[in-house]
Amino acid sequence: MNMPRITASTGVLAAIAVAVVIAIAVLDRAGTPGTQQAGAPEIQQVGEVPAIGPLPAKKAPKASMVEMGKRLFFDARISGDGAVSCAFCHDPAQGFGKSTDKNGKPQRLSEAYPGTNHFRNAPTLVNTTYKEDFASVGWAWDGHMGANLNDVMRNEITETAIMNMDMRIMHERMKQDPVYVKMCQENFGGECSSGKARKALVAFLKTLVSKDAPFDTGKMSDAAQRGQALFEGKAKCIQCHNGPYLSDGTPHNTGVAEDLEIFRDPVRHITYRSILHNHGVPNMGIWRRDVGYFLVSKDYADVGKFITPTLRELKYTAPYMHNGMIATLGDVVDFYNGGGGKDDPLATELQPLGLGDQEKKDLVAFLESLSSSTPVTVKVENVPQKYKPIKDWLNVHN
Ligand code: HEC
Ligand code: HEC
Repeated sequence: MNMPRITASTGVLAAIAVAVVIAIAVLDRAGTPGTQQAGAPEIQQVGEVPAIGPLPAKKAPKASMVEMGKRLFFDARISGDGAVSCAFCHDPAQGFGKSTDKNGKPQRLSEAYPGTNHFRNAPTLVNTTYKEDFASVGWAWDGHMGANLNDVMRNEITETAIMNMDMRIMHERMKQDPVYVKMCQENFGGECSSGKARKALVAFLKTLVSKDAPFDTGKMSDAAQRGQALFEGKAKCIQCHNGPYLSDGTPHNTGVAEDLEIFRDPVRHITYRSILHNHGVPNMGIWRRDVGYFLVSKDYADVGKFITPTLRELKYTAPYMHNGMIATLGDVVDFYNGGGGKDDPLATELQPLGLGDQEKKDLVAFLESLSSSTPVTVKVENVPQKYKPIKDWLNVHN
């Protein structure tokens, strides 16, 4: 789908929107006794950008809706041939991303629908509910996936390279499983539909939020505190990674190297070409790189730009960047210390930083303090794929 191009002015608007959301959240928390974290710093504006700070508390979704979403998340029947569930690529044991393939071998790029492979790293789903607070952010690494989590659910379920599901078949499959029939009645007072399934999945995703990150509880090591000062000062990371979600929600070109595997592996290459094609990328045949946000805007100035990702939960989500080309947080810091990668035009914010060894370690300690002390995860649900067919199902309304 086409999204309006994010210009400098809408970027500023987005930043203001985030600040407003944060301000409301802070007011909200101040007015709700018991939810204010002890010692939590006040969230404020630092110069041009929203300050980094703890994640504002959000209203918990309805428990029975979350249960339904969780079941769908682990249910491979919502993919076309019943082979892949959401958890296949967003593994709860791997930070809700995926760093190893089905044989346990390290992988940078995601698997895909059977018979294909993907050309991007599977991003974490933890804290995605906070990405919804941006006014006009695009989803996925390049922003091509719609305007909110509900849109993203439609994309993930129907996209040929992901779950390749026809919403009508999904609806039918749910109507034939008595457990979903009951869940739909309970949560929505009606029969199952793909729209209700998407709502339930979103409710489940809303429960995946950081907990007890040292940065949020204020229990940071000295090294992490020094790292924060660098992050906000000398290293200038805060220019793009700001607000409690540690992202400005806008695209930038940091010059991460291409993964040539995309062009070597024929099925990855086909997935890449088909997504370019489906989004009407001009001069499709000439591209030998991930075009990034250009896929959305069709503005040549946006080739190679990706939406700034959150920096939360990084401890559990290696490897890094849209294609997983950077293996460790130490390597990420080295990358920025050298002024980012090679591309033209590279984001003007990126300059060699001149950080010494201790400063680099401190910056890594700060990044680690943005992760929960134990990984955010859920118990894997084995959804029985066999159930008693509904008697006379053609005539039974549910
Ligand atoms: C076959 C692998 C695969 C499956 C199955 C899959 N995803 Fe994804 N998902 C990905 C990849 C890869 C991306 C990034 C795509 C891109 O950048 O082009 C992604 C992106 C996302 C995003 C965007 C995150 C962000 O920060 O912008 C969300 C949310 C998401 N997936 C949720 C889900 C849910 C929920 C399901 C099940 C309904 C699902 N995915 C199924 C591989 C998968
Ligand atoms: C010009 C804006 C900008 C600046 C400045 C910036 N970043 Fe980034 N950062 C990005 C973008 C965009 C990406 C995603 C790039 C990609 O996927 O190719 C990213 C990705 C990352 C990632 C990988 C996250 C993941 O989940 O894979 C880390 C870690 C990171 N940055 C840390 C930092 C640190 C530390 C600094 C300061 C030294 C910094 N960034 C400065 C824009 C920026």
